[in-house]
Order: sequence, then C-alpha cells, then structure tokens
Amino acid sequence: MKINNGVDGMAWGDWETLADADATEAWGAALGRACGNGAVVYLFGDLGAGKTTLCRGLLHGLGHQGNVKSPTYTLVEPYEDIRPRVYHFDLYRLADPEELEFMGIRDYFSGEHLCLVEWPQRGQGLLPSADCEVELQVVGTHRQLRCRACTREGKSIVMRMQQAVRTS
Ligand SMILES: Nc1ncnc2c1ncn2[C@@H]1O[C@H](COP(=O)(O)OP(=O)(O)OP(=O)(O)O)[C@@H](O)[C@H]1O
Ligand SMILES: [Mg+2]
Repeated sequence: MKINNGVDGMAWGDWETLADADATEAWGAALGRACGNGAVVYLFGDLGAGKTTLCRGLLHGLGHQGNVKSPTYTLVEPYEDIRPRVYHFDLYRLADPEELEFMGIRDYFSGEHLCLVEWPQRGQGLLPSADCEVELQVVGTHRQLRCRACTREGKSIVMRMQQAVRTS
C-alpha cells in the first residue's frame, strides 16, 4: 500500500478517532490551514472511508462556497476560486497511470497548488510523490485517521497540525 517510505524515518502518527462526518470535515479544514501553500496530499482508505468528506471540509475551510462532489468519473475537480488553488483527484477509475500524462498532471502538480489525491495507488509510477499521506479506516460507525510526513514540507504541515491541536 505504501508508495514511498517517507524521509528521515518519518513514521505514521497515532490513529485518531473521528466520531462522525463533521469531525472528518473539521480535520480536513485543519489540514487546509496547515498546508498554507502548495502541497501534495495522498489520501488512502477503502471505499467509503471518508476521503472525499475530508476534502470537502478542507475546501470549505479554505473558503470554497459551492458543492464538493467526488471526482470519481472526471478524475480531477479543480477549485480555482480559493488560494491556494486546489485540485482534487480521485484515481479509482484510472485504467492506466499513463492517462495522467494525457490529463497534463505536470500543470496541476506545479508546486504552488494543493493537490489532494484519493486512490493514489492507481497512479503509481507517474504520480508525483506526496508531501504527506493520510489514511482513513472504517471502525464500526466511526472512522480512524492517521497521517505522516514524507518530505520536509510535509513535516512542517504535520507539525502545524499538531500545534493547532495543542492550542485548541
Ligand atoms: N468520521 C466519520 N464517521 C462516520 N461516518 C463518516 C465519517 N466520515 C465520513 N463519513 C461518512 O462516510 C461516507 C463515505 O464518505 P466518503 O464519500 O468521504 O468516502 P470516500 O473515502 O471518499 O470513498 P470513495 O473511495 O468511494 O471515494 C459518507 O456518508 C460520510 O458522511
Ligand atoms: Mg471519495
């Protein structure tokens, strides 16, 4: 499942319980605040684990006013009304990672945008690597989440998240 092994031994954090969808959205909003500028975030988890819910919270937290729908069929949904611009990918239906080339992913992953990627496993080989990774799991009627940094920038993001939790 793991695409890269992180840098400097950056390990997964502890699992956190998210009691309901509002908690998942709130976690997403906090992640959006912590990202600040551009970053690449991979979202792991089974169908229905809460990945899109987290993205919805992040987008609304950054000020997006409209709906947030799952880009299952379009593969990517752009949000250019907010800063940083956010590109939300769902690669579940990607038949071949080479399709990413045809989509022009290089423009999306330019470094100044925030790219959220559901089902990154499907793009393995061509998808740019993540700054941080989030994993969601269904546990009964709740969800559990853990995250880890994969780059120096990702480490700053995770540290800002931890700081926000400590001061809240
Ligand atoms: N913490 C939570 N507790 C209970 N239900 C939740 C929680 N977070 C999200 N959900 C619910 O889980 C359902 C599926 O969520 P979502 O569509 O975000 O999953 P997903 O991981 O994006 O799935 P897919 O892989 O199909 O895109 C939604 O009904 C959502 O409200
Ligand atoms: Mg989804």
